[in-house]
Amino acid sequence: MLGGRPGEVITPFQRLMQTPAIVNIYEKFWRRLGYYIASSRNFSDEMQTVLRFGASRSSGLTLDLACGTGIFSRPLAEQLGDSIVVGLDMSWPMLNRARKLKEKGRAENILFVRATAFSLPFGDSCFSYVNCCGALHLFDRPDLALREIRRILAPGGSLCVQTTLRPNRSAGMAYFLERFIRFGFFDENELKNLLKLQGFEIEKAERHRISYTFLAK
Ligand SMILES: C[S@@+](CC[C@H](N)C(=O)[O-])C[C@H]1O[C@@H](n2cnc3c(N)ncnc32)[C@H](O)[C@@H]1O
Repeated sequence: MLGGRPGEVITPFQRLMQTPAIVNIYEKFWRRLGYYIASSRNFSDEMQTVLRFGASRSSGLTLDLACGTGIFSRPLAEQLGDSIVVGLDMSWPMLNRARKLKEKGRAENILFVRATAFSLPFGDSCFSYVNCCGALHLFDRPDLALREIRRILAPGGSLCVQTTLRPNRSAGMAYFLERFIRFGFFDENELKNLLKLQGFEIEKAERHRISYTFLAK
């Protein structure tokens, strides 16, 4: 668990998500409701999409980047029982919850690390798969996070992301979220350019309203 570093940016939205009240209801209500509002479909369907993309990964270490409470780390670890899933997040409250939920669950092959996505505490090419759901649009510098993901992925590795695209119409809600609490959205082309800059190419993708989930090589 690496302590916080000076200069780590905690956005207002992130501060809100770290409050004990939100951490406690995160898996059962907050994540499901947020996903439903963005996509009009059930979170369990999204879980199946992420696990289907994950099933294509080769053996080797998996990183669940910005794992939160480990909502995807645990099923990914169960799916690939012979390999280790590293869940990384910068929030202590989220990680403490993740550790408790892991202890209650079946998967033993999970480790949690506290660090920032902008400076991953791993050597080059250590991971064969990176999962990053519900977070890229919240990062202060998604470009830096993608550069780090690219660095720690081994050749042939892949990246699964679930993120949000800017709605065409939202009656000012998207503006409010971005401007005041820094909940971000991507324009699809902007996202594809950021990926391209790091050499990623999208292989499979699903879009459900403003939720966009893709697997990139
Ligand atoms: C909405 S939660 C997503 C959690 C989980 N991946 C999911 O899909 O439900 C976003 C997470 O990103 C984490 N996060 C935000 N900025 C980060 C950064 N720079 N480095 C690491 N984690 C970060 C937050 O602490 C939070 O746990």
